[in-house]
Amino acid sequence: MSQKHLGKLSAIVLAAGKGTRMKSPLPKVLHPVAGLPLLTYPLSVMRSLEIDDVRVIVGHGKDLVTQLVNSLGFSVYEQKEQKGTGDAVKSADLDTLEGEVIILNGDHPLITAQDLKQAVTQFRNEKAALAVITADLSQPGNYGRIVRQGNQLKAIVEAKDASSSTLEIKEINSGIYIAKADVLKKYLPKIESANAQGEYYLTDIIELCVADSLTVIPIKTDPRLAFGVNSQRELATATKSLMKSKVNQLLDDGVIMTDPDSVYIEPTVSVDAGVILQPNVYLRGSTKIGSFAVIDTGSIVIDSIIGNGVQVKAYSHIEKASIGKTTQVGPYARIRPESHIGEDCKIGNFVETKKITMKNKSKASHLTYLGDAEIGEDVNIGCGTITCNYAPDKQKYKTIIGDGAFIGSDSQFIAPVSIGDHAVIGSGSVITKDVPDHALSVTRAKQFIKDNYVAEKKD
Ligand code: UD1
Ligand code: CA
Repeated sequence: MSQKHLGKLSAIVLAAGKGTRMKSPLPKVLHPVAGLPLLTYPLSVMRSLEIDDVRVIVGHGKDLVTQLVNSLGFSVYEQKEQKGTGDAVKSADLDTLEGEVIILNGDHPLITAQDLKQAVTQFRNEKAALAVITADLSQPGNYGRIVRQGNQLKAIVEAKDASSSTLEIKEINSGIYIAKADVLKKYLPKIESANAQGEYYLTDIIELCVADSLTVIPIKTDPRLAFGVNSQRELATATKSLMKSKVNQLLDDGVIMTDPDSVYIEPTVSVDAGVILQPNVYLRGSTKIGSFAVIDTGSIVIDSIIGNGVQVKAYSHIEKASIGKTTQVGPYARIRPESHIGEDCKIGNFVETKKITMKNKSKASHLTYLGDAEIGEDVNIGCGTITCNYAPDKQKYKTIIGDGAFIGSDSQFIAPVSIGDHAVIGSGSVITKDVPDHALSVTRAKQFIKDNYVAEKKD
């Protein structure tokens, strides 16, 4: 869908409110929904509709919110005081707006580009001046109620201002509108604040337009569009809903899951067909999982690339790392950021890695710390090996281990240090000096034996 296709279209996204009902010090629109700030969702819909002129209204927590908005490539307009949604729209420098404008609340994470395209098409077909997206809810709660006269829209009444009979109306205002820019310029200044909250309600524009016989249409859609986050419970519901859809979509695409209800996958993750996800797996961020990989129970993978056929065994934690194809990781492995593990490798239980490269076919099978290291191909790292990368000068130093090296168990490398190709390190060594290719290095003390020691001591 291109901007050309939609014609001249701008958008105003309201994100200045305090979010009092969240009871949290964080501005509402920055609360995470399935791993991304709430406001990211409406803004990425604007991006996929290719709307360039998107004006995000900020106020409460504006410095933090502005950082997010700018990082997504959009502009902010400040609403100095949070005097209501009508006042918020007025803060969007209306004089420079032209054509048609989509207005939406920044706290609606479940809308899609397809939803808005359909609404814009209907708005155009019916030659409307103003459209309100509505939905029927069995429990309309605090939403503004849609008051109709026949098929026509008459007014929107906020729950706090509604009579008991108006509160029974099930059709609600989603908080998404499409309007001609000229309509906003003419009628917004006429909105008053004589209501229960003493605020300038954007929703009052409906009655003003109806009074002037403009074409104001309700567009009834799926309740999903109306789902706004106002409380921590709704925030959790939004996350759960997005993760559930992701899981269902992956099942439809051929991913195998033993217990889909216990698997959590953020919408940004990609998982190839034929992958097996066992119960209680959590996949986050920009993670990509290649086909036939198996992610076992209790494992968490964040922003990482997992190659085809990799086995991540139970209770492993992998973050900002890459694992080459058919490598085995875990159980109980911790793969920390900037770990790049090759193909056909083995990272066993209680192994921690950080900022390393390990080439193909190398193994660290048990109880090992590898940090700030370059490990060659076909290297065997014995149990209990430690790269001592952190020095008293608070700097990190590197350990380099060449192809085919054999590292005996319980060895320590005092970095910076370099071990040559095919070198052998005897078990229990503390290596402080470089070891050449093909050499043997052992640093442990000679074994001492005193025969009959126990018997003599007793005498
Ligand atoms: C609003 C609608 C209500 C609708 C509901 C849908 C009004 C008066 N009411 O109510 O009819 O059913 O959305 O979710 O519009 N904001 C500002 N500046 C302000 C006040 C709010 O930018 O001064 C922003 C908020 O950050 C939020 C959005 O506007 O993103 C909506 O505000 P909120 O207070 O959540 O409105 P609701 O009470 O949900
Ligand atoms: Ca709201």
